[in-house]
Amino acid sequence: MTQDASLDAYWMPFTANRQFKKAPRLFTKASGMHYWTDDGRQVLDGVAGLWCVNAGHARPKIVQAIASQAAELDYAPPFQMGHPKAFELAARVAELAPAGMNKVFFTNSGSESVDTALKIALAYHRVRGEGQRTRLIGRERGYHGVNFGGISVGGMVANRKMFGAMLAGVDHIRHTHDPARNAFSVGQPQHGAELADDLERLVALHDASTIAAVIVEPVAGSTGVLVPPVGYLQRLREICDKHGILLIFDEVITGFGRTGSPFAAQTFGVTPDLITCAKGLTNGCVPAGAVIVKEAIHQTFMQGPEHLIEFFHGYTYSAHPLACAAGLASLDTYREEGLLTRAAQLQGYFAEALHSLKGLPNVIDIRNIGLVGGIELAPRTDAPGQRAFDVFLDCFQAGVLIRTTGDTIALSPPLIIERPQIDQIVGTLATAIKRVA
Ligand SMILES: Cc1ncc(COP(=O)(O)O)c(C=O)c1O
Repeated sequence: MTQDASLDAYWMPFTANRQFKKAPRLFTKASGMHYWTDDGRQVLDGVAGLWCVNAGHARPKIVQAIASQAAELDYAPPFQMGHPKAFELAARVAELAPAGMNKVFFTNSGSESVDTALKIALAYHRVRGEGQRTRLIGRERGYHGVNFGGISVGGMVANRKMFGAMLAGVDHIRHTHDPARNAFSVGQPQHGAELADDLERLVALHDASTIAAVIVEPVAGSTGVLVPPVGYLQRLREICDKHGILLIFDEVITGFGRTGSPFAAQTFGVTPDLITCAKGLTNGCVPAGAVIVKEAIHQTFMQGPEHLIEFFHGYTYSAHPLACAAGLASLDTYREEGLLTRAAQLQGYFAEALHSLKGLPNVIDIRNIGLVGGIELAPRTDAPGQRAFDVFLDCFQAGVLIRTTGDTIALSPPLIIERPQIDQIVGTLATAIKRVA
């Protein structure tokens, strides 16, 4: 092995460890739209770190807020105690959320937000006397993090197949990817609203009285940027309403401005019952997540003797003071710079730039909404995923960070991006796609 012993101990997540350690890619600094590598190269960030650094890197207000908070109140227990910034951040998040979604439960990650939302859904039905509603419905190709609840309702086979039976009583509706009808759609694809009717199939199979909740990403990110067909989310909402099933939108990627509104629920005009979020909540600077809940659901829990805990769930680091300080400063930065709606202004330019890649070798689909883009390449027959990964390496060498999932290249730049930087990302990608056979 040629690998450096100092890299040995760290078992890296979602990484080809042996390959990485033979040719490490290390970042040592970040500012605004850029990273710098350990050998001093500047790299334009085309993916907001990992879909999270929505205001760009090392923003002074956020940096200062974290530093001051660490000196002032480093930690406060979240069970039976509080600190002012937790309440302030919850109120600020509720202000941004769709009308009526005004209660906020804090977690530390997207995965924890998902498992928390599933538990709220199950407990909600039980508290209101429908404890037989235990079934959870996800969607094929969904990504809901890596905890057992999330992989159970998730639909990405590699994330599931190693881990046994997972949660019992979970089923999945069909995914919405339909390249035969929708390839190269600009924005929402026209075809596929009827795919939501697959939920009726599961209702017919299991009976609605056994189903607690359905969870979907409004825009599926990690499976390769799948934008919901026109009318699809509306139909899902109608079917859930008809059968008393809670609808959960997993907005870990789409939350905080990615699609041109604070939440994708607002972009698509569909209000779920619960929203999970993380990432952009703190601009990726301190781990944090949240579940935003409709008033009526929260109210259901607020009964019985007042001295009793209403929901037996929480984390040592729920509403961590550093996370709350980072969250408040992030929301200030978003507001001051109009970032939560900036994707709506830039999406036309971004879409045109992305779709200019149509016709390049192996490009079989391009998908976009807001400041999210997916470019799907034809897989090599002997090595699925390799072609896109080679493009990733080529772009990295050329000074642009992109992300791949399977053979789809995903773009989600910080919302502060300027037009010339969109051109740089797409130009670098075009060169790489042509170079990689
Ligand atoms: C839709 C969705 N849900 C959940 C998660 C998991 O978040 P985390 O990695 O913070 O646990 C992600 C992460 O990308 C995500 O995209």
